[in-house]
Amino acid sequence: MREPVTVLYSEELIARRVAELGAEIGHAFEGSELCVLGLMKGSFVFMADLIRRIPLDLTVHLVRVSSQHEKAASRIMTEIVYATAAPLTGRDVLLIEDIVDTGITLSYLLGHIHEHSPRSLRVCALIDKPDARKIDVHPDWSAFSLREPTSDRFLVGYGLDWMERYRGLPYIGTIPRPGATP
Ligand code: IMP
Ligand code: MG
Repeated sequence: MREPVTVLYSEELIARRVAELGAEIGHAFEGSELCVLGLMKGSFVFMADLIRRIPLDLTVHLVRVSSQHEKAASRIMTEIVYATAAPLTGRDVLLIEDIVDTGITLSYLLGHIHEHSPRSLRVCALIDKPDARKIDVHPDWSAFSLREPTSDRFLVGYGLDWMERYRGLPYIGTIPRPGATP
């Protein structure tokens, strides 16, 4: 049984922001053959919509990062896997992430991508939670910046999951954070 989901960003609002971002990104990379690198799995719905709104000749690649929960609050990144061979050297790379929360995933990934010497590397996130940061990294673009306290809520839908569920919802919503006191 699913928890009831409270809508936070509607389908229409997301579509509007994605169209705006696509135009901005298209402008920023004008004349370039953009290499889009989507972080799986959370960004796949966002990426699918966004690439159709970027008016550029682009290629799409997928990457996955595994992490291990060490203690309740800390994670260590263990592995980075390119799902498809991603030719990043000398390319203009746009990394797509679902949520930048503590920034641990993003900073780990940026470090690895830099080792491939891309010509440029920018980041577009679906949701930025700037107040939750443990590492000082910032996406160049984000569809939504969430500043209100969300410690008792968990975001789901539009590719975002809780335990692999809810990814297919067409909007972004919240469920009570599992384990949080109501
Ligand atoms: P970070 O390394 O703490 O920045 O975590 C980023 C990752 O945590 C994202 O890529 C998401 O997969 C996941 N995440 C963080 N907050 C949420 C949430 O509210 N809903 C779903 N996933 C989340
Ligand atoms: Mg996830």
